Amino acid sequence: MTPTQSQPVEDPERVAAFEARVAAGESIEPKDWMPERYRRQLVRMMSQHAHSEIVGMLPEGNWITRAPSLRRKMSLLAKVQDEAGHGLYIYCGTETLGVDRQELIEQLLNGTAKYSSIFNYPTLTWADIGAIGWLVDGAAIVNQTMLAKASYGPYARAMVRICKEENFHKRQGYEIMAILAAGTPAQHRMAQDALDRWWWPSLMMFGPHDSESSNSDELMRWGVKRKSNDELRQRFINLTVAQAKAIGLVIPDPQLAYDESTENWKIGPIDWDEFWRVVRGNGPCNRERLAARRAAHAEGEWVRLAAAAYAAKQARTVSAFEAA
Ligand code: 3HC
Repeated sequence: MTPTQSQPVEDPERVAAFEARVAAGESIEPKDWMPERYRRQLVRMMSQHAHSEIVGMLPEGNWITRAPSLRRKMSLLAKVQDEAGHGLYIYCGTETLGVDRQELIEQLLNGTAKYSSIFNYPTLTWADIGAIGWLVDGAAIVNQTMLAKASYGPYARAMVRICKEENFHKRQGYEIMAILAAGTPAQHRMAQDALDRWWWPSLMMFGPHDSESSNSDELMRWGVKRKSNDELRQRFINLTVAQAKAIGLVIPDPQLAYDESTENWKIGPIDWDEFWRVVRGNGPCNRERLAARRAAHAEGEWVRLAAAAYAAKQARTVSAFEAA
């Protein structure tokens, strides 16, 4: 149920008291009263976040068997495994809002759920694994560091643990890019090619410009977002331009220019037609990603059945023990 589908009628006094709590910096917990729109916004945002973590395993997963060393394989295995855990964390967070995880997973599998557009791009070379860690997880850290202060307690607390792991993800990615950039000319070209392909889609991770962001006003009023899409994007740009220069790579934007008055790096226009094309399912890998998720879900049926059978057996044992 997304907030735009129906406009629940709320008691204005209760909403005012709720907003006063948020304004006072209080944490909203699952058993607290909250406006239905607040709950729906959180379910929308957190479910998309969880889906993104799970789908995000796919582009990197296909390089685990091709990592260039045991060390690289181990760190990539650890990263992909972390992402699964992040998805689990956030699905658990959505369940505190009264939704059934199966319902959310069904929405992902039937193609009606959104997940981050960034994961619909292909990983063509090993340098892409470096670019994902450096740029995608780097963007996620900027975004999730903010979310660690979100007004909804379970979401904010999940972000604290997730951000610690994201820092490892970013560092291993940046190290891959730094080593390639300092390597042979072919390796440097591989790193630059990956930056060229991942730079703009990474900027799109922060969502449309504030003026086009249909959810930001409400999310910021209710303390879920503490900064706007454009504020976070700018912070990411400022951090990343310096990091690219430090390893001798060039940001693929001829209009990139430093603005002394604001101390911000200004960029050229983002291709929002590409963004919406990918969000609406027509990116390079959308179909491949959903097909892989559907196949994994089908192959995992036996695990779910076995776990359910074991839980039922355990429950029967406990109830027999209690009856005795
Ligand atoms: N990909 C797909 N859809 C996107 C998007 C993106 N990059 N950015 C925005 N959208 C969608 C929104 O979902 C919204 O559609 P909806 O109303 O139908 O849900 C529409 O575009 C308008 O965007 P808004 O700015 O109004 O949406 P939000 O206020 O929700 O802001 C957001 C978008 C910044 C992504 C915000 O939802 C958010 O911070 N989400 C939590 C973090 C998250 O999901 N990150 C995704 C990456 S996870 C990741 O990187 C894992 C790491 O381990 C690699």
